Amino acid sequence: MYELIDMQVVDEINNVGKKILSSKEFSEAKLQPHHRVTTVADHSYHVAYVSLKICKMLNKKGIETDNKSMIIGALSHDLGMLNRDDPFDLSFLNMAAHPKRSVKITKNILEKDFNNTINDIIVNHMWPCTFGFPKSLEARIIIYADKYCAVRERTDLRRRYMATHLNKPTFEV
Ligand SMILES: [Fe+2]
Ligand SMILES: [Fe+2]
Repeated sequence: MYELIDMQVVDEINNVGKKILSSKEFSEAKLQPHHRVTTVADHSYHVAYVSLKICKMLNKKGIETDNKSMIIGALSHDLGMLNRDDPFDLSFLNMAAHPKRSVKITKNILEKDFNNTINDIIVNHMWPCTFGFPKSLEARIIIYADKYCAVRERTDLRRRYMATHLNKPTFEV
């Protein structure tokens, strides 16, 4: 994921996200392909990591964020991608539907711990591909983190591949 991993951030994600990380849905997410080069679980953990790093940068500037909801929302935002017929379906229908499915799954896992900020993070993470506008700062952060991670996951793999397959520049992801 990263050359220099911030272990404090990793520990915080593992502690706060315990319920999600130990759920059967997150175990299934480890087997669900995503963005052609990763899994829903790896991608979601990556998004949680980047989102929390952004929160901590803002916290240092005196801007408050709900870091617990940020972690939980990021870890769960794509759980609605599980059991898709086509794991790479980029249709509007799937883009609009999976955040709602993610909310349902997350509510079932968290029960009374579910809150409005987590809902906002998950439901609106596909903006502007979907219509709902993010209300909280945390929901705006995931929009950047999610897209950054998607690009990073693809380009890192491409770079690694190109380093060992220089005669085959036709790699497609
Ligand atoms: Fe998504
Ligand atoms: Fe995502």
